[in-house]
Amino acid sequence: MQDVAIEFEDVVAGYGDFMILNRLSLQAARGKITLLLGPNGAGKSTVLKTLFGMLRIRQGRVRLFGTDITGVGAKALLVQHGVAFVPQGRNLFGQLTVWQNLELGGITLGMKTTRARIPEVLDRFPRVKERLGSQASALSGGEQKQLEIARALLLRPRVLLIDEPSIGLSPLVVADVFTLLRQLAEQGTTVLMVEQNVKSALKMADEAMALESGRLVLHRRAEELLADPDIERLFLGGAQALAQQVA
Ligand SMILES: Nc1ncnc2c1ncn2[C@@H]1O[C@H](COP(=O)(O)OP(=O)(O)OP(=O)(O)O)[C@@H](O)[C@H]1O
Ligand SMILES: [Mg+2]
Repeated sequence: MQDVAIEFEDVVAGYGDFMILNRLSLQAARGKITLLLGPNGAGKSTVLKTLFGMLRIRQGRVRLFGTDITGVGAKALLVQHGVAFVPQGRNLFGQLTVWQNLELGGITLGMKTTRARIPEVLDRFPRVKERLGSQASALSGGEQKQLEIARALLLRPRVLLIDEPSIGLSPLVVADVFTLLRQLAEQGTTVLMVEQNVKSALKMADEAMALESGRLVLHRRAEELLADPDIERLFLGGAQALAQQVA
């Protein structure tokens, strides 16, 4: 693939002695939105955690824009390689204000740079901007997710890893989040996103990959997959149908 941003080559990784990724190989293109699909427990979040240096890689290599980052830890990935991660679920300091959460998000940048960048990031999130003095826990679920993304963008990441951002959000908020990700990609950010909201995600993504039991079972262009009459069967029918598709 031309212009590869993220590359896994035969990666084995997991938790303790229990390996989840079984010689996983995949590639995601620079400046594109790549979706990571697959059933619960397939290893989607594990891929993001492995890429972000949170799990030990037992075998294989991970590369970022051609640079080997196997074994590089989360902090170095963030600061030196421009990788930001918005994990699944809620990840804010609920007792702190929106503003304080943003300041903490920029801790690796230093306070001066962080404060200078906050207004620029907030321009993308008008609803968050109105709530700077509120406790983060007082925000709606959608506003909290937007704050998490805002916090990640303070680092001006080259690569944004985002795990199921639409969970618990209304369709309108999901549409806002997807529009924002599309804008980031147009501006050159590489996005790797896990999403269960398959149809709407495919409409905004460039590429789609599916995992099953820690292996890649499908990699196609998003619009091609969306046009596939078998899409309902593929995704509503679950992993078995996906595996048949590849066979
Ligand atoms: N911290 C952990 N310790 C041990 N096993 C874990 C841990 N996190 C995940 N696993 C296991 O790893 C496997 C893959 O989990 P992962 O979270 O990557 O799946 P997923 O595809 O993201 O699923 P979901 O759609 O439910 O979020 C599962 O069997 C899960 O139980
Ligand atoms: Mg997950």
